Amino acid sequence: MLILGIETSCDETAAALVSDGNDVLSDILFSQSEIHGRYGGVVPELACRRHIEIIDKVATSAIETAGIKTGEIDAVSVTHGPGLVGALLVGVSFAKSFAYSLGIPMMGVNHLEGHLLSVFLEKEDIIFPFVALIVSGGHTNLYYVRDTGHYTLLGRTMDDAAGEAFDKAAKMLGLEYPGGPLIDRLAKSGDPEYIRFPRAYLSRESLDFSFSGLKTALLNHINNDTLYGSERNRLSVRIPDIAASFQQAIVDVLVEKTMLAANKYNVKDVVVAGGVAVNSMLRDKMGSRGNSEGIRIHIPRPRYCTDNGAMIALAGHHHFRNKRFSSLDLAPVANLTLGE
Ligand code: KG4
Ligand code: ZN
Repeated sequence: MLILGIETSCDETAAALVSDGNDVLSDILFSQSEIHGRYGGVVPELACRRHIEIIDKVATSAIETAGIKTGEIDAVSVTHGPGLVGALLVGVSFAKSFAYSLGIPMMGVNHLEGHLLSVFLEKEDIIFPFVALIVSGGHTNLYYVRDTGHYTLLGRTMDDAAGEAFDKAAKMLGLEYPGGPLIDRLAKSGDPEYIRFPRAYLSRESLDFSFSGLKTALLNHINNDTLYGSERNRLSVRIPDIAASFQQAIVDVLVEKTMLAANKYNVKDVVVAGGVAVNSMLRDKMGSRGNSEGIRIHIPRPRYCTDNGAMIALAGHHHFRNKRFSSLDLAPVANLTLGE
């Protein structure tokens, strides 16, 4: 079973060939971060234009790297939401023409399901049911996963996603987009106790998140520091400390709520995925907290945390097995949701 996975929901143009669900034969990614970096965020028109320019090259490269012939591909799987509608449209249109011209089926896949299942590209020893934290630039969602295809949404962000908070914080600190990796790097030489930023736990029982207060606290801190700092360059000197304190505040909440969900639903396995799951402090803290509570934490390698085509092929594999095919009128859905 050979599936071509196509991902164009945001600013990565990706294609991968995956055999039998988890054997990754090729995984090609073109990141547009250089294009959007100086704007402090993704510019939808530019993203969409770039996807059109290179989707064909990226898919061809995935086929060549896998060392297979186009005729050997059994089905094509494509992200049809959530994401930027123009960007999604490029991938969906490409997948339709590809499937139609080869006479093979197509599966429209939810990007969040791709992230949620990405851990199975490397592991098989995860026990259902489990709790999954999907933490990316657009989402911060907690799920109860009864089985593949059965997802219950337990909690989500009420305002900014964690990745969005990282990106906005970076922008305030004069760093480029995407800010998460830069804050992660700077934080390594910073003091996480430098500023006690607020943690929004909402209520003890709540599994929802909120990061907008944290963002405002950072802005206030920057304004005060710049206005009242004794040295003009005080802020820039303190950036690693601010980054570490900010990161710590986000990580504390993510770890706490995820563990709360795991205990509440009595599961012993937890999956963390999505771009923010690359974060080194999140990986460390989640791992050590899991150890102390006897909960197994599964986080994909960084390459599979951020957007990629392999996770879309993997999710498509499950759709294929359940004969859940999409028709050629599949439409991109910008605000597609996952879970009952
Ligand atoms: O999953 P992803 O590639 O795309 C979306 O579906 O949104 O996630 C991108 C997000 C961005 O907000 C980026 O800043 C964040 O993941 N990110 C990180 C790190 N690497 C990527 N956030 C914190 N620390 C990182 N190391
Ligand atoms: Zn994503």
